[in-house]
Amino acid sequence: MDHATPRKVEHQQTDRGYVPVYASTVVEQPWDSYSATDHEVWNTLYARQCELLPARACQEFLDGLARFDMAGNGIPRFAALNDVLTAATGWQIVAVEGLLPDAVFFDHLANRRFPVSWWIRKPDQLDYLSEPDLFHDLFGHVPLLLNPVFADYMQAYGRGGMKAFGIGPEALMNLTRLYWYTVEFGLIDTPDGLRIYGAGIVSSKGESIYCLESAAPNRIGFDLERVMSTRYRIDSYQRTYFVIDSFEQLFDATRADFTPIYQRLAANAPHAAGEVLDASDRVFHYGTREDWATHADT
Ligand code: PHE
Ligand code: CO
Repeated sequence: MDHATPRKVEHQQTDRGYVPVYASTVVEQPWDSYSATDHEVWNTLYARQCELLPARACQEFLDGLARFDMAGNGIPRFAALNDVLTAATGWQIVAVEGLLPDAVFFDHLANRRFPVSWWIRKPDQLDYLSEPDLFHDLFGHVPLLLNPVFADYMQAYGRGGMKAFGIGPEALMNLTRLYWYTVEFGLIDTPDGLRIYGAGIVSSKGESIYCLESAAPNRIGFDLERVMSTRYRIDSYQRTYFVIDSFEQLFDATRADFTPIYQRLAANAPHAAGEVLDASDRVFHYGTREDWATHADT
């Protein structure tokens, strides 16, 4: 591995609009290149989420977070986190420059490597940015990789991704929706009430509150094919959150070969992000739909 400063690869403005740019390389975390401002951004975001997440995030996430030393001392060193992570579940963090091509991403997961963007957002992006940065990837995703069941789910997802990639773009879309509504925006039902486990939520101040406390979004029991056929929002809070009963339920539901499922789903039109299926959904909360933006689903 060479030691040139890695690039920061972001969305770019082009004649096709604001498009994501992909980079495949694994880099060394350039820890010495972080500025005082970068470390402050980490400390601010970390403190903010730690205040919000007790009684909102699930216990598995909070327990994982507590086992790492991510608090207050600026951006963590991936190598130190890997000592804990690899010993616990065999996963490791690898530093990357930005979004990865699908096949490269799946290959990392299938080999228990979790890619984390080496760079962190700027102080004027604390509340929103359009691509995953170090805070989202690390704070959002890595704590649950200490949970053995979730750790296995993520690896199985990577293997399933390789397979879906070989089948074609529709299968890949179905699988991406599963990732979106579980790994990124999942809720879990507990004896104390609904809790967050999705990385896109735990790394967002606004959505950590909104997903549980707003009356606007639907909260619907997890069902594999329902989730895989539901479109989602990338430009706003979700219109629907899917609720699992446990990580075991999630892992068991995804154990079967998806090949026949992809075939079945290809025959039907997908559901809109905010749709409720009265005949079949297990509804925890029927959204009031207040303030839903008018943009299209993805
Ligand atoms: N069982 C899935 C398949 O055959 C793979 C998978 C596992 C996908 C876990 C997602 C999560 O494709
Ligand atoms: Co993410």
